[in-house]
Amino acid sequence: MSSAIDPRWRDVDLWFADRLLPPDPAGGAALAANQAAGLPAHDVSPLQARMLALIARMLGARRVLEIGTLGGYSTMHLARALPEDGQVVTLEADPHHAGVAAANLDRAGLAARVDLRVGRAVDSLPELAEAVAAGVAAPFDLVFIDADKPSNPVYLDWTLTLVRPGAVIIADNVVRDGRVTDADGDASVQGVRAFTDKVAADPRLTATVLQTVGMKGYDGFMMILVDTAPAAP
Ligand code: SAH
Ligand code: DHB
Ligand code: MG
Repeated sequence: MSSAIDPRWRDVDLWFADRLLPPDPAGGAALAANQAAGLPAHDVSPLQARMLALIARMLGARRVLEIGTLGGYSTMHLARALPEDGQVVTLEADPHHAGVAAANLDRAGLAARVDLRVGRAVDSLPELAEAVAAGVAAPFDLVFIDADKPSNPVYLDWTLTLVRPGAVIIADNVVRDGRVTDADGDASVQGVRAFTDKVAADPRLTATVLQTVGMKGYDGFMMILVDTAPAAP
């Protein structure tokens, strides 16, 4: 994110990470490999990765869909949170990013639990939806939307064809330094705004937003529960 990071945000992130997170050599190696390969530092932070893993475990998730792999840092934490026979399907448009991610996941011993599909997400999603509709693949328990923000509304539509009732959707970067409230914001802001309106208009969905500060700056997550019946007020 663009604006300055208050040094306290980083210090507090590191203070808690130091106490609450185990040493993570594979994660550290992945971040180093991403940097060496010139990938943008858009990975979730270690504490955010832990949050994703906790949500997966709280749901008892077996199948997770991630849209936007980058170097596989979030993927790695989601995959570790699944049972042995669980799977993360992760979609990445950039072959260079996907190559780095595949090497990172391999090195972490997680390749068998990750199905990394290279190509634009809109091109991979129909095939996934067909497999779920045909009963060839189980529906997803958890979806992490973290790719090109202008496509978020489209990703929501596909996601709703791919999940089980009771599934959770997490969308990253919905605050963007507060720019989300700018009606004349850029295409990413417009994507998040349209996504939010779509979520709000769908009676199956109950959502909230957590604004975050930390080593990644000022941003936030949307958390959405896919209800079986219209949401209670
Ligand atoms: N989830 C990752 C970060 C993802 S960054 C983590 O936390 O570690 C966003 C990624 O989405 C980038 O790698 C970018 O190449 C990818 N991306 C952008 N547009 C995409 C598209 N149309 N389809 C699939 N992936 C896309
Ligand atoms: C950007 C994208 C991300 O997914 C992220 O976590 C941070 C920044 C970006 O495009 O600027
Ligand atoms: Mg992100």
